[in-house]
Amino acid sequence: MIELMKVEDLDQVVAIENSSFSRPWSRKYFINEINNNDVSEIYVDIEDGEVISYGDLWYMFENCDLTKIAVKKEYRHKGYGERMMKFLMSTAKRKGCEFMHLEVNTFNKDALSLYEKSGFEIMRTRRGYYENGDDAYDMVVGLIGSRELKKILAIESSCDETACAIVDEELNVYSSVVTSQIDVHARFGGVIPEVASRMHVEQISTIVKSALDQAKLSMDDITAVAYTIGPGLIGSLHVGAIAAKSLAFFYQKPLIGVHHLKGHIFINELIKPLRYPMMALVVSGGHTELVYIEDDQTFKIIGTTLDDAIGEAYDKVARVMNEAYPGGPVIDRLAKEGKEHYQLPMPKVDGLDFSFSGLKNSVLQLVKKETEAGNTINKNDLAYAFQEVALKMLVNKTKKALEEYQCKSLVLAGGVAANSRLREMMSENFTDIDLILPPLKYCTDNALMIACAAVHYLRHEKFVDYDASSMPSMSIED
Ligand code: KG4
Ligand code: ZN
Repeated sequence: MIELMKVEDLDQVVAIENSSFSRPWSRKYFINEINNNDVSEIYVDIEDGEVISYGDLWYMFENCDLTKIAVKKEYRHKGYGERMMKFLMSTAKRKGCEFMHLEVNTFNKDALSLYEKSGFEIMRTRRGYYENGDDAYDMVVGLIGSRELKKILAIESSCDETACAIVDEELNVYSSVVTSQIDVHARFGGVIPEVASRMHVEQISTIVKSALDQAKLSMDDITAVAYTIGPGLIGSLHVGAIAAKSLAFFYQKPLIGVHHLKGHIFINELIKPLRYPMMALVVSGGHTELVYIEDDQTFKIIGTTLDDAIGEAYDKVARVMNEAYPGGPVIDRLAKEGKEHYQLPMPKVDGLDFSFSGLKNSVLQLVKKETEAGNTINKNDLAYAFQEVALKMLVNKTKKALEEYQCKSLVLAGGVAANSRLREMMSENFTDIDLILPPLKYCTDNALMIACAAVHYLRHEKFVDYDASSMPSMSIED
């Protein structure tokens, strides 16, 4: 996540600075840049508290100077420099700058290649600019003449969240609005499809209007309208589809039908660049899949659940324990206080597939047996036992998949990605691959994820007709 640098980031930034430059900026200099320099803004790209890169801009009326850009050593040549550069250029442009200027050592080939890729041109050479006698290039890029970035308005309504978000093709976020119906469905112990559709109808216009208002944009600024075409509840999907199609038809915009799970995968691009081939472990209320992703258009399901989805199993087990819907977060919390006490068998499933219904039945039998014997169930211990077996299966199969398929990154996606124990197990077990764990706020359904995926559809001009049908059980391979 790229954000303004704070004093707490100093230690890390200074360490990167010292290992990157022969004449590094001092700690005092950075403090001055943050606190006292009115024309300067320093941004850092942070993942799980780790600073990956940083960049400093000085704003001077219609011009701005890129005074610093650096990427931590182990993250170089992985797209982070470009990511920071794009961010700085679009930020400067939004602030009304017309040009961005910088100086670079003529021997610094890596930096030169990044700047040239970003559109910078050499204006002149400054002979003996550096203390050691090295020359510098003055480089400039025009920001105003640059093309308007294409913007996507996206709608998500596949289950019990009504949401709308606006992003541009470089993943700058303009707005993201979500309303959840979870409190209403919790009263019934699960999502009631008919209730969900009606609530989407009530919410959708307000949500779309709020997203446009928050972004300070009108439909004239939007290049394409995206929506979740599947999978999901058919009635819920219809509401989002009709809203998106009406907007697209009325304002004559192309329409993009996004696969919901691709949204859960691509939202991670807001955090860091995705590197292909990539493995995705998709874990949600409706899906448990291992997906091999060759490039942003080629998805292959190499393992799937033979019965219940993992989220569904969590919800059902919570119900057996008389706990509220959705059960995932409840079991996550209960298991934290649990210990090894109950024994549940690990389901045996061949290959890369999963199965959770046997495990769910084992929980049911255990509760029945203990209740008949007059024992009270220790919910913490039961939640612990269920979760350890269920999550071990996810981790073991993912390991197996990565042995069979060479991948550069592994991404966790879907509602169950919010599970604290699963995140811990993934971090412990996958240390030698680029592991991507979505921040918690992106794990629940939202429209930002649909917008992030839609950027790829737009890039490949993959549009749908105004009469496209919603697909409640659409496969990610479609
Ligand atoms: O992706 P999602 O929001 O909706 C679907 O597309 O299915 O996933 C919802 C599922 C629910 O089954 C919910 O119980 C589960 O994600 N979930 C969790 C946690 N938070 C949500 N499961 C385990 N631990 C959690 N912390
Ligand atoms: Zn979802």
